[in-house]
Amino acid sequence: MSDSMKLIKDLHDNFDSLASYPDDFLITLFEHFADKVDDEIQNELFTELMVKYIEVSKKLKESNKKLQKYSAHLEEMVKDKVKDITASQVAVIHALVKLSESRDDDTGAHIERTSEYCRVIAENIMQTGYYDNQINDVYAAIIEKASPLHDIGKVGIADSILLKPGRLTGSEFDIMKTHVLNGYETLACVEKLYPSNKFVKIGMEISRYHHEKWDGSGYMYGLSGERIPLSARIMALSDVYDALRARRVYKEPLPHNETIEIIARGRGTHFDPVLTDIFLDNHDKFGEIYDRLTTTSR
Ligand SMILES: [Fe+2]
Repeated sequence: MSDSMKLIKDLHDNFDSLASYPDDFLITLFEHFADKVDDEIQNELFTELMVKYIEVSKKLKESNKKLQKYSAHLEEMVKDKVKDITASQVAVIHALVKLSESRDDDTGAHIERTSEYCRVIAENIMQTGYYDNQINDVYAAIIEKASPLHDIGKVGIADSILLKPGRLTGSEFDIMKTHVLNGYETLACVEKLYPSNKFVKIGMEISRYHHEKWDGSGYMYGLSGERIPLSARIMALSDVYDALRARRVYKEPLPHNETIEIIARGRGTHFDPVLTDIFLDNHDKFGEIYDRLTTTSR
């Protein structure tokens, strides 16, 4: 008896073992079997085997489907839980940042507006094709969520400096500058606990470098061009637009059109030229965000 015939007989005696063979193998075996045996035996055995084979295959497919459905359901449950936890963590961070901002932001909406400006810039970078090795949907979502962390270091700045109605002296300004380090160092402590967390990492970049300027004339490190992390370059433009528009103890608010001109003049000196062009193409969205979030907060 040939090997294939022996195998066919074994399969016939133990149908359940059919499920352990790959489909391609069984089809080839049956074809080979059909060529070798006479019609009577072939019909009897072959029909019985095929019926059983179809039955076992069907059961196996059903089990696989159930298993896939179950694991998809489990995956959804885990995703929902993670989403829940992430949303509550972001809400707590948001509340704490708002508390710290309330000292020098009487409308309380600076962080909401700058979050939205950052999102607008990040989404539009994707459409230009620039910085495509850094930017994607996840990055855009993270920078929107992490941008409120940019000034958390201001909690360490005395009221006499932070809320001074006039121009800061040289030494006061030096103290004011330290808010970028305070914020960065605070987040660096968090990073030690969560070294792979991108939200914390981008928060650190934003906090540390958001006062750097494209031409290297900013603070604290005098970084220039693309040596300044993209997140901080996005934040710098968003922060300046909002600061110019807003009323502060030391200045009157500027209208949208004047703000556009100031930012356009800073193209390639204060701001990344690519991001400035994106701002100029989308300035109406910035104006809309400012008006919407300022009106509702007052
Ligand atoms: Fe700042």
